[in-house]
Amino acid sequence: MDQAKTKKSLNWAELGFQYRYTDYRFSATWRDGVWSEGELLTSRTISVHEGAPALHYAQQCFEGLKAQTAPDGRVLLFRPELNAERMRQAAGRLLIPEVPEELFLRGVEEAVRANYAWIPPHGSGASLYIRPMLIGVGENLGLKPAKEFEFRVFVSPVGPYYSESGLAVISLAVSDIDRAAPAGTGAYKVGANYAGGLLATREAQSHGANEALYLDSASHRFIDEAGSANILVAMDGNRLVTPSSAAVLPSVTRRSLMSIAEQELGLTIEHRSIELRKEIDQFLEVGACGTAAVLAPVGKILVDGQWHHFHDEGKSVGPVMQQLYDRLVSLQRGEREDAYGWTHEVVMGD
Ligand code: PLP
Ligand code: COI
Repeated sequence: MDQAKTKKSLNWAELGFQYRYTDYRFSATWRDGVWSEGELLTSRTISVHEGAPALHYAQQCFEGLKAQTAPDGRVLLFRPELNAERMRQAAGRLLIPEVPEELFLRGVEEAVRANYAWIPPHGSGASLYIRPMLIGVGENLGLKPAKEFEFRVFVSPVGPYYSESGLAVISLAVSDIDRAAPAGTGAYKVGANYAGGLLATREAQSHGANEALYLDSASHRFIDEAGSANILVAMDGNRLVTPSSAAVLPSVTRRSLMSIAEQELGLTIEHRSIELRKEIDQFLEVGACGTAAVLAPVGKILVDGQWHHFHDEGKSVGPVMQQLYDRLVSLQRGEREDAYGWTHEVVMGD
């Protein structure tokens, strides 16, 4: 155990957003209508039947959250019960048995606790990314739900998603490809949404952007979201606007930032359709937010072959995104009092 309490000697500040093997993962299985208690495993591989519905028909969903080390050494999760709820929603949509909140939180906590040595120290700029996943396994060929499921949680120490430094200005390119249909699966964190987006990301990157920006698939007029993040727009009159689309993932980060903007920065928050081409000239600042992305200021967006620049010609971070970033991150890292009750300590034990 002493061994497990010693931090790995990684160059934490140099980490990118990549998978890194850690010692333990949590796994529970659903069979004959019941979830097993779950256990910690050391193998990073999953052996499944070649007919597994997760492999053929994408009967799977996943989550993403982070653990961070506070200045006093406590290990903090950020609103994990919202991830449990979102996975519950996705499971219901895909005819997967729900993971009860108790099992979800216990799986996350056990995976974090067992991998204490891999949790980046406070001040390193890195964090422990946690990836809960729920997959349909077992033998199947016809299009029907799996009879068995695995709930697995693995973790990996990670650095920033978009760059080597904490707060990078990124760019987006509007995609011709649709991410999600109005009554499709866009609001759920299911792998199929991301497979369909790989080509859009590649095309966006071929134009020199970091990510694709999706418009609503019914009219191609309104902003939905980016490939791995929700969108925030700062506008005149101290307003912070976010799309109200039913096809976007309900981002935990975005919901938190909207509360911070309203309660701490006194901004007026609006949750409404944003008509991109009509309103883009009124955008003062744009941000892309998510667990992996945190809050990335968007310096420019490519629309119909033309780049639109925001704050300072897209060269630096604007004041709204900077303040939102600082306030969110200081809360998540336990650097200031959490009046919201959003942080959740993982007690390490002996
Ligand atoms: N939108 C998409 C498509 C995502 O993959 C993510 C990442 O989880 C988000 C938004 C941000 O959600 P959250 O803040 O809950 O991580
Ligand atoms: C996250 O932010 O947690 C995600 O799942 C996004 C993913 C594409 C890395």
